[in-house]
Amino acid sequence: MILDVVDQLEMKAKKRNVSLVVEDSRLSRYMVEADVEKIKQVLINLMVNAIKYGNEDGEVLVRTFDMDENILIEVADNGNGIPQKHLSKIFERFYRVDKSRDREQGGSGLGLSIVKHIIEAHNQSINVRSTIGTGTTFSFTLKKANIN
Ligand SMILES: Nc1ncnc2c1ncn2[C@@H]1O[C@H](COP(=O)(O)OP(=O)(O)OP(=O)(O)O)[C@@H](O)[C@H]1O
Ligand SMILES: [Mg+2]
Repeated sequence: MILDVVDQLEMKAKKRNVSLVVEDSRLSRYMVEADVEKIKQVLINLMVNAIKYGNEDGEVLVRTFDMDENILIEVADNGNGIPQKHLSKIFERFYRVDKSRDREQGGSGLGLSIVKHIIEAHNQSINVRSTIGTGTTFSFTLKKANIN
């Protein structure tokens, strides 16, 4: 699914000369309990943000981590980051950090509120960490499927 989304966003990434990298895509395959179309939307919203607000000529890295009952999925960019005081608000509807700059990039400030809504509907959680000048990483969990 991650590779599908990467294919879908390749053109958009190319326009900003951003490389989309999936770590260990052949090694880490997981079965999860999730609504695949909704989780695709989550990945798209996070990756489009990473492409839009990350660095031109930068990189967007998607990684998965085995956390026993869950898997953790991370979308990281090496952009300018988000100031700490905004971090708790970016999941709110219509919230945008830099309205003048971000308006040029289009967008209504809804993408992350939809992401949060979908992850919470899966009874999972989403987090963000960001360092100014270094980049931003969003991470969310999904429950592994019971395949006995
Ligand atoms: N990876 C990121 N790096 C820096 N800032 C980000 C990143 N992701 C989101 N933001 C900031 O958070 C704000 C909210 O993001 P969100 O996806 O909800 O809305 P949007 O991208 O502005 O519009 P939409 O997704 O509805 O098209 C963005 O306007 C931007 O300021
Ligand atoms: Mg967005």
